[in-house]
Amino acid sequence: MSKYYLTTPIYYVNDLPHIGHAYTTIAADVLARWKRLHNEQTFFLTGTDEHGQKISQAAEAHHISPKQYCDKMVQHFLEAWQKLDIAYDHFIRTTDEEHIQTVKYIFRVLKEKNLIYKKKYRGLYCVSCEKFLSPDDLVNGLCPDHQQAPILQEEENYFFRLSAFQQKLTQIISAADSGDSQLLIEPAARRKEILGKLSLGLQDLSISRANLSWGVPLPFDEQQTAYVWMDALINYISALGYRSQPAEKFFQFWPADLHLMAKDILWFHAVIWPALLLALELPLPKKIFAHGFFTINGQKMSKTLGNVISPQELLEKFGPDATRYLLLAMFPFGSDGDMNFPALTERYNTDLANNLGNLFTRTLTMIEKYFNHQLPETALDEILIDAVEEHLKAVSNFLDNTNPSGALTGLQEVINLANSYIQQNSPWTLAKTNPEKLARVLASLLAVLSRLGIYFYPFLPRMATRMLAALGYHQNISEIAPEYLNKKYQKIARPPKTGSPEIFFPRLLKK
Ligand code: MSP
Repeated sequence: MSKYYLTTPIYYVNDLPHIGHAYTTIAADVLARWKRLHNEQTFFLTGTDEHGQKISQAAEAHHISPKQYCDKMVQHFLEAWQKLDIAYDHFIRTTDEEHIQTVKYIFRVLKEKNLIYKKKYRGLYCVSCEKFLSPDDLVNGLCPDHQQAPILQEEENYFFRLSAFQQKLTQIISAADSGDSQLLIEPAARRKEILGKLSLGLQDLSISRANLSWGVPLPFDEQQTAYVWMDALINYISALGYRSQPAEKFFQFWPADLHLMAKDILWFHAVIWPALLLALELPLPKKIFAHGFFTINGQKMSKTLGNVISPQELLEKFGPDATRYLLLAMFPFGSDGDMNFPALTERYNTDLANNLGNLFTRTLTMIEKYFNHQLPETALDEILIDAVEEHLKAVSNFLDNTNPSGALTGLQEVINLANSYIQQNSPWTLAKTNPEKLARVLASLLAVLSRLGIYFYPFLPRMATRMLAALGYHQNISEIAPEYLNKKYQKIARPPKTGSPEIFFPRLLKK
């Protein structure tokens, strides 16, 4: 049995979860469910990033201790993921004791390997980014991502010899261009950006803070705490028991098959994290995928602008399945995009109410009306079936290659094929003239719909289960999926007894 280890970023708890966090987490959940449908041993990790200056300041503003503040805030993330049906295998918090011990252990190892040294440093620090910026990064003196002035920090810190890894990293990352990669950074345009930045040279990295107590104290100097990004990246291995588990257990899942995130934090994942892993002599993640960033009505989602959308708002309007679907369907996964309520509603009505929902309701209605829920054994229409199979192959490919939005486009094409097939064959006429052909047409549709139910399942876990049950498939999805995903259609169908037609996605008013 093959394994698949995938991760989302661990989100900062200084604010409530918003649909940006939900976007990555839903995408990861879809990919994890897809792997599980193929019986792959999947480990899906998500969690929260709880140390650092930003969290410390937020706690102070609320007049509670940082740990109390994190304990309160993490509940919102847990609740949001539960409501969105995110089936993670583990939720890590960087305040977990095992994680803290792993961070300390790794600092000790780096020190022993002489990859850490102490130096006085003066730099401009953006608290929102939790990183030092160079004067060239600033626009009108402000951090371009947060429109906030960085603070001047001067202190003696420990530095990681990041510069020592420049050549090796360049060589590893650029190997992807010749199709021979140990570490694939995608999309390719982002890989080029990383290589461009790498070619300018790598500075050693400050990896501790002298004046911040809210962090993991360094084992060899308790006056300093670990830099929040060092702390955070380590979660991907501490969650697997890098320090405490026997090697076979850890290597059952490491290296990660996929680290998922947006482009904002690609540098940390594509450069700093692999350098750290090389320092620890650990295998590198197989793939790092940075999806795009979306705006709301053309503007960055921000507290200051007051345009932050919470998962709860989408859940109230669309329910969990459609929220998952819509976030991923709105724009191509690797590109930037825009969201707003009218566009989401329109998409809901077109793709889910009219196309998918209606196709199911219509087909079930006809099977009820003309055959009282039970179609006879019949041959299938091979032209339709072959065309659908081709499309589903493409959908599989998209899902295997971290492209959930591509998969959704492919699935809409299958729905279109089925809808045109109904139009062309006009079953309501066949009902009067050719009952044998009517049975064939409806059984062929039923075969297509059962495929749709399975392929939509990673996106719409609740509704797809309900749809499959209405088609007559009452088993657990994990029992039926492998057969459907791996086997070709049978030419002769023995259709199950179908249920009553229902409205799966009621139309919504555009507001
Ligand atoms: N704590 C760090 C990550 C450490 S990972 C070892 C962090 N946290 S964050 O809360 O700021 O989350 C950033 C991530 O949230 C992005 O990389 C992306 O996955 C997601 N998104 C936040 N806003 C988003 C959009 N507007 N659009 C798309 N993704 C968004 O960085």
